[in-house]
Amino acid sequence: MKGFTAALLVGSLLSLSRSSNKAWPPHTVCRDGNLEVLYQSCDPLQDFGFSVDQCSKHLKPNLNVRFGIILREDIKELFLDVALFNKGSPILNFSYPICEEDLPKFSFCGRRKGEQIYFAGPVNNPGFEILQGEYQVLLELYNENHFTVACANATIICS
Ligand SMILES: *[C@@H]1O[C@H](CO)[C@@H](O)[C@H](O)[C@H]1NC(C)=O
Ligand SMILES: *[C@@H]1O[C@H](CO)[C@@H](O)[C@H](O)[C@H]1NC(C)=O
Repeated sequence: MKGFTAALLVGSLLSLSRSSNKAWPPHTVCRDGNLEVLYQSCDPLQDFGFSVDQCSKHLKPNLNVRFGIILREDIKELFLDVALFNKGSPILNFSYPICEEDLPKFSFCGRRKGEQIYFAGPVNNPGFEILQGEYQVLLELYNENHFTVACANATIICS
C-alpha cells in the first residue's frame, strides 16, 4: 500500500504540469465479499492516494487510513464536506472540521501550499454498519478561505 500511495504521489507531481481535462482514473479503496468502495479525484489539477486498513460493512471506530496528497493551498484550517446519495437522492450531508486554528487534530495541520502530506493513522470515526445498497458520495476538503484542497466522488456498493 505504501508503494501504491507513493506512486500516486509521483503521479500527482507529474500532473501539476499536465494540462488535461480528462477524468482521473478510479481507485479502489477496498473490495471484499460484500463491500466495494471506489473513488475518483474530481479536482482537475491533481489525483491523490487514499486507502483503509479494513474493508467490512461493520465499520470499526478509529479506522486506520492512509492518505497522500500535495497541497495546492495552505491548510491553517481544513474542513471536510460530505454529501451522501442513494440512486441520486440526497440522504445526508455533513461537515467535519479536521484542522481548526485552536484545535489541530492532526500533525499535518498548518502545512503550506506545495508541501506533501503523507498521513497514516487512525481517524476518529464512529463505528456503524453500512446498509445494503449502492451509494454515491461527494467529498470536498477546503481551507479557511473556502479554496478546494481536494475533491473526490466515491461509490460504495454493499450487498
Ligand atoms: C465520479 O463521477 C463521475 C461523473 O459523474 C462518474 O462517471 C464516476 O463513475 C464517478 N466515480 C466514482 C468512483 O464514483
Ligand atoms: C447536500 O449536498 C448536495 C451536493 O452539494 C446537494 O445536492 C444536496 O441538495 C444537499 N442536501 C441537503 C439535504 O442539504
